[in-house]
Amino acid sequence: MTAPSQTRPSIYVYPDLEAMSRAAARALVDRVRSAVESDGRCALALSGGNTPRALYRLLAEEYVDRVPWNQVDLFWGDERYVPADDPRSNYRMVKDVLLDRLPIPTKNVYPMPTSHADPEDAARAYEALLAQRFAGRWPRFDLILLGLAGDGHIASLFPASPALQARDRRVIAVRASVDPAQRLTLTLPVINHAASVFFLVAGKGKAGAVHRVLVGPCDPVTCPALGVQPTAGDIVWWIDEGAATFLGPSVRTPSPPA
Ligand code: 6PG
Repeated sequence: MTAPSQTRPSIYVYPDLEAMSRAAARALVDRVRSAVESDGRCALALSGGNTPRALYRLLAEEYVDRVPWNQVDLFWGDERYVPADDPRSNYRMVKDVLLDRLPIPTKNVYPMPTSHADPEDAARAYEALLAQRFAGRWPRFDLILLGLAGDGHIASLFPASPALQARDRRVIAVRASVDPAQRLTLTLPVINHAASVFFLVAGKGKAGAVHRVLVGPCDPVTCPALGVQPTAGDIVWWIDEGAATFLGPSVRTPSPPA
């Protein structure tokens, strides 16, 4: 494995969630289009949680015609181990806000399975699906969307979790300290193999976590986001002023894209 890339992340700060989501949506569309242009398809891993809802809504309402959905394959970065129609399901959230309003073929949408009796079997099933989609090579997503929780977790990789040490797994079943406890998540090696990682973080409640990750002091066990170091990819932080409360001007990337 080559040394993690040391390229500095771009840290774009916006007045509010809407402006941040709009800029991130535009950048996502550009990344998807260039991936389709160069490879014929785009593999995109979506985040759960609430923050990305505004971006997903914009994709459905304003950018739907700019994305070649027939050439896009949608995956999830993590999933709560609940039925697909459970209000806590990340798949259900994306379905309600985005999928039901997109001309994307069902065959391009790959939710994490949550109906196996044993979540570990579900994790293995998703790994098999990734192996098929990436022809047995290590999965390389063109873009992975991540949120950041106030406790520092990303996807379903929680601080001090043994899951942070997974090196030969692509998807694992984890027990979280928050409801629902049972989850599935992509592992850090998969996240670090992505061509691009977007962090979407908004609200003053995240300001402490953002500061710990971007300014420190912190470490990859306490702040799993510090374990995100794409070996050949870039990281872009899309955050609003609330989440950037404790970030000085020197941390912020000048002239964020509109
Ligand atoms: C999940 C997400 C999780 C989320 C963060 C931030 O399943 O909950 O994958 O990692 O991104 O908890 O969530 P909010 O955007 O709701 O603050």
